[in-house]
Amino acid sequence: MKILIIGCGFVGERAADLFHAAGHKVIGATHSSQSSERLADIKSWQALDCDVSCADSVKALRTQTGPVDVFIHCASSSKGGAEMYQAVYVDGMTHLCSAYPEARMFYTSSTSVYPQTDGSLVDEKSTAEPGKDTGRLLRRAEDIALAHNGCVARLAGIYGTERSFLLKNLLEGKSGIEINEDAAEGRLLNQIHADDAAAAIVHLVTHQLSGIFNVVDDADMTQRACLEKLAPLFNLPVPGIKPPDSARKRGWTHKRVSNAKLRTTGWAPRYTDYFTALRDDPQLVSSILKLVIDAGEKPLHRAENIVLIGLMGSGKSTVGRIAAHMLNFQFVDTDHMIVDQAGCSIADIFSKEGEAGFRLRESAVLRQLLGKKHTVIATGGGIITQPVNLPLLQHLGFITWLEASTELLERRTASNNDRPLLRGEEPPLVKLHRLIVERSSLYKALADLRIMTDELSQEESAYGATESARIFFAKRK
Ligand code: S3P
Repeated sequence: MKILIIGCGFVGERAADLFHAAGHKVIGATHSSQSSERLADIKSWQALDCDVSCADSVKALRTQTGPVDVFIHCASSSKGGAEMYQAVYVDGMTHLCSAYPEARMFYTSSTSVYPQTDGSLVDEKSTAEPGKDTGRLLRRAEDIALAHNGCVARLAGIYGTERSFLLKNLLEGKSGIEINEDAAEGRLLNQIHADDAAAAIVHLVTHQLSGIFNVVDDADMTQRACLEKLAPLFNLPVPGIKPPDSARKRGWTHKRVSNAKLRTTGWAPRYTDYFTALRDDPQLVSSILKLVIDAGEKPLHRAENIVLIGLMGSGKSTVGRIAAHMLNFQFVDTDHMIVDQAGCSIADIFSKEGEAGFRLRESAVLRQLLGKKHTVIATGGGIITQPVNLPLLQHLGFITWLEASTELLERRTASNNDRPLLRGEEPPLVKLHRLIVERSSLYKALADLRIMTDELSQEESAYGATESARIFFAKRK
């Protein structure tokens, strides 16, 4: 199929990638030449620019693309008000219809068109007469597609890498449970992971379905239920209540949107609910922690744990156990968790899945540690090599870097065969030296404390870590 995607933002770009990977011819159009040039540089599908609100710009696009089998209007109004909605959605759909009369039409709308505030279950047959002008304009754009036997996907609140207001607001202390007489436990949340939203678009287009489809995950969750589970995952108190925000762009609604219709066509979300995504999406939590760190509005909340980093043989497991005993903390070792979950040794994982497979397991284990407190966490020496791990490590506790001379590292690692990186061609001493050179700056950038262990007993190292952590957390209270 030849597919034109208008708007290659958070969802459009993902959909374009999926269509392309499935062998379709994809043309992605973006509103500015800057973004189309960026996409042209990194994508193997064609990227063009077009201002969908301008009839001439759409005509010019048509001249460039020729006829297409389907167009997907996926452009956003970039936070604009009713005027922007009129221009991008209603006028945009009108222009596309007249420029591409041969094409099937697909319009991505929003579940905000359902105005219900009574907590009821709404499906595609439910009333969708929004109280806000912006919502009414979305409905008019939908009607253009529907009048031409097109397809309308009503997307719930989209989240994904670098975008989750739920988690970002919680971490920045801006969350609250919005209570009113209809919603004693806060609003019902309706969300969809961007990857699932893109997959739903691909599903609807490739199955040539028409009509309206809600695109939302399987969760049935109030704000309170969500925050009561989310806050402890980040060692934060559950936020208090607040009045509904009447200025909300999507309107203040309280309803559970059903995905039953879409599900009966064979689509299923990979992330059935938000918490599954927090656990299974390799980027989601890390990217939001990084946003908070980079924004610097508030120091990142650090869980009350000690995280030990450092090269193989630096004593993380031994020192960690002693430190845990001193503080009456729990002790965990990421390597042991990986081995337990895989049911085989690290050397076996490396040989079956390669180092890349091991690193994925290592990141997954870090995400499983979210919510831990009063724990000493010993990590694998290479954990700091994956950028996605760094914000997680920072959040997970007070970071102590255990250092040791190459000779000591070699002596300590000599008897253990489960370190595949030291079993290659290179002699261990040379390899360890190279790893020190490669990794020292990474350990250093992350460490709250560094301990040179050569001249210390393991008890002394443990004492250094526990006392420094105690002072660190006392100061932050
Ligand atoms: C590795 C260190 C090991 C283990 C794996 C890879 C590394 O952990 O995670 O063999 O890349 O340095 P230890 O540091 O606990 O030996």
